[in-house]
Amino acid sequence: MVSVNIQDVLKKLGIEELNNGVSTGQEWFDTKGDITSSISPIDGKEIAKVKNATMEDYEMVMEKAQAAFKVWREVPAPERGEIVRKIGEALREYKEELGALVTYEMGKIFQEGLGEVQEMIDICDFAVGQSRLINGVNLQSERPLHRLSEQYHPLGICGIVTSYNFPVAVWAWNSALAAIAGDVVVWKPSSKTPITAIATQKIIRKVLADNNMPEGVFNLVIAKSSVMGDNFLADKRIPLMSVTGSTAVGKRVGGIVGKRLGKTILELGGNNAVIITPSADIQMAVMSTVFGTVGTAGQRCTSTRRVIIHESVYEEVKEKFLSAYEGIQHKIGNALDQDYLVGPLIDSNSVMLFQHAVKKVQEEGGKVLFGGQVKEGSGFESGNYVVPCIAEAENHFNIVQEETFAPIVYFIKYSGDIMDAIAIQNDVPQGLSSACFTLDMREAETFLSYAGSDCGIANVNLGTSGAEIGGAFGGEKDTGGGRESGSDAWKIYMRRQTNTINYGKELPLAQGITFDI
Ligand code: UN1
Repeated sequence: MVSVNIQDVLKKLGIEELNNGVSTGQEWFDTKGDITSSISPIDGKEIAKVKNATMEDYEMVMEKAQAAFKVWREVPAPERGEIVRKIGEALREYKEELGALVTYEMGKIFQEGLGEVQEMIDICDFAVGQSRLINGVNLQSERPLHRLSEQYHPLGICGIVTSYNFPVAVWAWNSALAAIAGDVVVWKPSSKTPITAIATQKIIRKVLADNNMPEGVFNLVIAKSSVMGDNFLADKRIPLMSVTGSTAVGKRVGGIVGKRLGKTILELGGNNAVIITPSADIQMAVMSTVFGTVGTAGQRCTSTRRVIIHESVYEEVKEKFLSAYEGIQHKIGNALDQDYLVGPLIDSNSVMLFQHAVKKVQEEGGKVLFGGQVKEGSGFESGNYVVPCIAEAENHFNIVQEETFAPIVYFIKYSGDIMDAIAIQNDVPQGLSSACFTLDMREAETFLSYAGSDCGIANVNLGTSGAEIGGAFGGEKDTGGGRESGSDAWKIYMRRQTNTINYGKELPLAQGITFDI
C-alpha cells in the first residue's frame, strides 16, 4: 500500500508544474534556458518541469557568489554554524516530504529516502559543532622569540556537482562544511534529479530570509552541460570543485581543474568487496551483505559488487544468499510502498547496463545463479525494475573489473588464507569501500593493516555501504582520493596559512644563515 500522496508532497515542498532552475538563496530567477522534465523511475510519470539556466544566468550567479563571499567570510564561524543549525532544523521539519520526493524522483525505497534526509541533518549537526572547532596548530620555532603557527581561512566559491543516486545528501555534506568554513557554494545537481534540488533550496529559503542572509551564499544552478560543463570546471573563480560521478567523469574533471591548479574533491566509482572467511558468523555476513548488494537497487557508490568467499564456506554462503534473494524477489516494486525493499533503477540506460553485465559475465565464463531479468507486467510499466542478479565469476573478468551501477554481485571463491582474499579484493582499479566478516582477530587486524584493504573505507563484520557521516568518506585509486563528510574533511574547504611572528629585537634567519648588510 502506498501511503504517500505525491501531489501533497509536491505542494508542501512548493514544487510547481514549471519551476525556475536558478536561485541565489532567497531569490529565484525567471530563466530563459531550455525546459526539461523530470521523470519518476517508479511510474514513468513526469514529476515537474524545470527552466534551465542560460550562460547569462550562470554569470549572474557567479558574480553574486563572489560578492557574497566577501560578506560571508566576515561572519564569525559559530554564527555561520548557527545558520547551518537552522538549516538542519528546517530539514527536520520537512524530512518526510523531502524523503518521499527523493524516493519518487530517484527510486530508492522510502526508508532510504528518509535515511538520505537524516544524513543531511546529521552533517548539519556535525558542521555546527565544527564551526566552533576550526583550529590550527602552534609549532615550535627554531628561532628565539619567534612564534610559529597555522591557521585556516575561508577559500572562496565551492562548486558542487552531485549525482542522482544521493541527489541531496552529498550537497549537504559539502555545503554544510563549506558554509561553516566561510565559503559560498554553487550547486549543479544531476539532470536526472533536479526537483529534489529545487525542493531543498526552497526548504532553506526561509532560514536565509529570517536571518537576513546575503544572496549568493547558497546557489543552485540547474543547467545543461552545454551551459555549465567544461566551462564550469575551468572557471578560475572556483578554487574548489567537489564532484561525485563515475571514474570516467572524474578523470575529465581532474584534468580540467588540475590544468588550472584548482583543488578537487573527487568521489568516483567503487568496486566494493566483502570477504567472508571460514571463521565468519555466516548468518550475519549474509544478512549484512544483502543490504549492500540490493539496497538502493545497487546504486550506491558503496554497493557491494563482489563477495569473496572461502571455499570451505562457499556452499553454505551461496545457499543462504539464494534463499535471501528468493524472498527479495517478491519485494521488488514501487519504492514509495513500504512493503517493498528494492525499487527501480534510475532509467532505461541503467537497465541496459545491468542487462549488459548479466550477458557479459556469462560470455566471459561466469554463471548466473539468480535473477538478471527485467520485470514486466502490472506495477512495472516504467520498465526500470530488475531482479537482482548473483553470478559466479572470476576477479580478472573485464566485467568484474568494472563498476556496474545496478544490483549485480559477483561471487568469487578463494582458497588459502586472508592474504589470498585481500589480494583478490585489491586487484581492481577502484578503492572505495571494503568489508571482511571474520571472528578471528588475526584476520581482522591483517585486513585493516597496511598490508590489508587498500580502500578508503574498511569495515569488519559489517557491509560496504551505509557509512555514517562522522568518518571521512572517500576512496583511493580510481575512486579519486577525495574525502568529504566527517573527521577533518572540513580542512579542504579552507586555505591553510603558516604564520611566523618575531616578537624579539633581533632578525635571526632560519637554518642559521647569516646575512650581514
Ligand atoms: C554514494 O553512494 O555516493 O555510505 C554515497 C553510504 C552512504 C553514502 C553513499 N552514506 O552508502
